[in-house]
Order: sequence, then structure tokens, then C-alpha cells
Amino acid sequence: MRVFLSSLLCAAILGYRAGAVVIDDFSMTSQKFLSSGVPEGFTLDLNEERLVQFAEDDKPVWITEREKIRAKALGRKFFDITHTPWFKRPPTSLAPSLAYPAPDKQNLVNTVIANLTVDGMISNLQKFTSFRTRYYRSETGKESQKWLLNRISEITAEYASPSLTYLITLTEFTHPWGQNSIILKIKGASEAAAVENGTVVIGAHQDSANTIPFLPAPGADDDGSGTVTILETYRGLLASNYTPVQDVEFHWYSAEEGGLLGSQAVAQSYAQENVNIHSMVQFDMTAWVKRGTREEIGIVTDYVDADLTEFIRTLVNTYCGIPYVDTQCGYACSDHASWGKAGYRSAFGIESTFDNSDKNIHSTNDRMDISDEFSFDHMLEFSKLAVGYIIETAGWSKL
Ligand code: BES
Ligand code: ZN
Repeated sequence: MRVFLSSLLCAAILGYRAGAVVIDDFSMTSQKFLSSGVPEGFTLDLNEERLVQFAEDDKPVWITEREKIRAKALGRKFFDITHTPWFKRPPTSLAPSLAYPAPDKQNLVNTVIANLTVDGMISNLQKFTSFRTRYYRSETGKESQKWLLNRISEITAEYASPSLTYLITLTEFTHPWGQNSIILKIKGASEAAAVENGTVVIGAHQDSANTIPFLPAPGADDDGSGTVTILETYRGLLASNYTPVQDVEFHWYSAEEGGLLGSQAVAQSYAQENVNIHSMVQFDMTAWVKRGTREEIGIVTDYVDADLTEFIRTLVNTYCGIPYVDTQCGYACSDHASWGKAGYRSAFGIESTFDNSDKNIHSTNDRMDISDEFSFDHMLEFSKLAVGYIIETAGWSKL
């Protein structure tokens, strides 16, 4: 009943058509939307003009925040570039072409993988999905971000050795909308290697959004799953006293659902400061195994770096207990695209093919207890992949 009511509300607000019956017209309902006002706990101006880009070769267009929300409801993907007027980073500032040698650190990687468990992922996701919404322009979105920041500090305090603690910095990358992105850096043991070969980055987005942003959005799969997947990767590395040779960073982006706003701000700032990024791998939706399908790691092949993606396939074969499957996600699908646009190498691992992915996202049903298709064991496979990627690329400095 609740689901039905919320989809009806969605239809009414956004001007959807239910079958042949036109429930409402968007221009009419926009009046209702406005007159009912933005609820308490949200800071949002539906009439604000935003500059968005819907395809690589399209000219950016100005639309209102309301039109942006509607476009997303209709399944259109976009970069919101209002605050990040892009420039292409000169290719010369990219590190020379990477060779991606065959994985050769199996012993080290497998000792860390042996430490990974679903226990922390379950309790972390339970808490993370208990916020009404993690919408980037909501009060609860700010609270969930502060909770995540604090959880990362707690994990650091509990699992990092004193020598490792000294190499770790945890910062908030602030954004004007209130929910900040989070950056955890483990400094590499070799300053020269770090500068020459660049920082190794894994990311996930911490925000969630209902199609109607004011409605609840537990965001268990999208992208609570990726958030706790990389958190477990971090915990596992600390517990094994991992010290990288190159710098390693974990990013939890804000406002992916608003049009990749957080990751664009971070990537643009790194590009402007000419930070050498070795590569970036995104984890967005890692939990769902559709009933009746083979459990697989989806490897996104569009809007990614082909060589890095091929390396990720090799890592799946080496370190995961399940096979990979290629899939596509489209333009501006998740935060890896912000890094690609800034001129960096990026890749994207996802729970399945696009067709077999979780259809509950952006609704009140994106819950970890909705179905046994939501699998923490599946998420753990992505933590293994992330551990393999980090150690194989950033190295391990054994003292
Ligand atoms: N996790 C989704 C992308 C996704 C959706 C992957 C379905 C696989 C299946 C992501 O959080 C998202 O919602 N992206 C937006 C685009 C964004 C830039 C507005 C989308 O797909 O609408
Ligand atoms: Zn989403």
C-alpha cells in the first residue's frame, strides 16, 4: 500500500503517465509541488537554475532543479556541472601509459582477504540505512555523513598500528550543499614512488535518493553496499598492518544522485592541483544477486579506461570466487565518470549486468532486508577485488 501511494505521489508530482491514464501534467503539478513547499529538513530550491549535460557531445543546458529531478525520474543520466565548469586535463600530465603487469602479490593479498568478514558490513549497513534519507540536501544526509566520518575514525583507532596511524589522514572535502565528501588517505612509504606512480583511489557514493527526494531512501544497495564494501576493505588492510608504497585513498562521495556533484568537485580540484592519480575504481551497487542468475562481478565497459578495466578482469580471476561479466551503464552513470572526464583512468565494478541489477533502487524498498537476493557474501567478493587492486597497484612496503 505504501509503495503504491508513494508511486502515485511520484506520478502526481513528476507528471508520470500510469498506463493510458494521464495522472497529471507536470506544469500543473509543479504548482502543487511548490505550494506544498519543501518539507522541513531539506534545503532545496526547486526553481534554482542548474547547468546539466546529458551526453558527451551535447551542449550543456540550463534547467531548473525541478526539471532535473524529473529528468532523473524518467531515467535520464547527466552531469550537473553548475559548479564545475570543466576543462580537459592536458594528457601530458597523466603518468605514462601503464603496463599493468600480471598480479604477483598473491601471498600478501590473500592474507588480507582471509581477514575480511561480513560482520562489520552488516552492522555498518544496518546503521547507515536507518537514516530516513541520505539525500545530499537533507539534514539526515548531513547526519549520515557525520556518522560515516566517525565510523571511519573508530575503525582507524581500533585497527591501525601506531606506525600506520601516523600515515593516515581523514578529511572532509566540503561542499556548499552541506553533506561533505570524505577522503581517507594512507600515505605511501616511498615519497618518490607516490609522486612518480600516483595515488591509487577507490570510491563509493555515500548519498542516497528517492525518486522523489523528500521521501525515505534507505539506499541499502545504492550505494550503502559500495560504502561498506570499501569500509571493510579499509578495515581488512589495517588489520593486516598494510603499508602501501604509493599513496592510497578511499573516497566516499556526496551528491552522486544529484548529478555526480561531489566526485566532480573532488576530481576537478585534484586535476587543477595537478595531483598524479594512478587510477580510480568505483564501487556502486555490490549486493544484489538476482534469483535464478549466476553470481558474477559486473565489469562496466563504457566510459571507463579500457586497460585498467582489463586489469580489473584479471584481478577478478585471481582474487574473487566468482567470474566477471561485462556490462554497460551509460553516460554519467556513477562517480568513476567524473574522474574519466578530468582525464584520469577509472573503472567501475557493479553487482551484475545492468539487466540483472536491483530494481528497488531510488525507492523505499532499497533495503537490506527486502529479499535474500541482497547478499553480504556477494559484497565481500567486491572487498576482495578492492584489496587486490590496492595491493597490486600501490604495492606493499614490508619494513
Ligand atoms: N547506482 C546508480 C547507477 C545504476 C543504476 C547502476 C542502475 C546500475 C543500475 C547511480 O547511483 C545512479 O542513480 N545514477 C544516476 C545518474 C546520476 C548522475 C543522476 C542514474 O542512473 O539515474
Ligand atoms: Zn542511484
